[in-house]
Amino acid sequence: MKIKSVVFDAYGTLFDVNSAAEKCKDKIGDRWEEFANFWRTTQLEYTWLRSLMKRHRNFWEITEDSLDKSMKIFNIDKSMRNELLNLYKILSPYPEVKQVLNNLKKRKFKLAILSNGTPALLRELVTSNGLNNFFDDLFSIEEVKVYKPHSKVYEIPVKKYDLKADEIFFLSANTWDVSGGGNYGYNSIWVNRNKSVFDILDYKPKNEINNLSQLLDIV
Ligand code: LAC
Repeated sequence: MKIKSVVFDAYGTLFDVNSAAEKCKDKIGDRWEEFANFWRTTQLEYTWLRSLMKRHRNFWEITEDSLDKSMKIFNIDKSMRNELLNLYKILSPYPEVKQVLNNLKKRKFKLAILSNGTPALLRELVTSNGLNNFFDDLFSIEEVKVYKPHSKVYEIPVKKYDLKADEIFFLSANTWDVSGGGNYGYNSIWVNRNKSVFDILDYKPKNEINNLSQLLDIV
């Protein structure tokens, strides 16, 4: 097996989805983290439900809808809405991301993001964090209008790069996404940042790492 490309999930893997609420924690109060987790879980549920119902809305619309529900549940003042949404567009990357990308780039791997995010969101995420020069492609599920973990999503880089699925290292911190990619045929790697438990979804990752720097020991 020769790995030719390294493909990353975006939200939760390269970028910290809790960082938007964290930047407002003084205004949100003690429950900021619980609120951030609820927002994320609702957002993902809406992606799966909409794909099953065949009622597609893009990831930005889903992010807004899930925020609206979360703000109601947590009684967060409506004036926070725009601030949280603007911060979501420029989520912070995890500290090791730039150095890891730099190393992989020098070693000539095709580097890409494969994400539920819209093309515009992904562009803004990487440019606002100075990461735009590292990636060959920012693949969005908007190309196929169905969310992860549908196999059509994982097919996008395989087709574009004309590779076999197992020539791709796919990294995600989302266990169900690791399974989705692994069941498709990728060499899926679980970025287990929080010492969590893997989902029981037919695929056991061949490798598990605690942060992206450990990828450099495997690749
Ligand atoms: C993404 C979500 C699954 O970036 O984190 O696609």
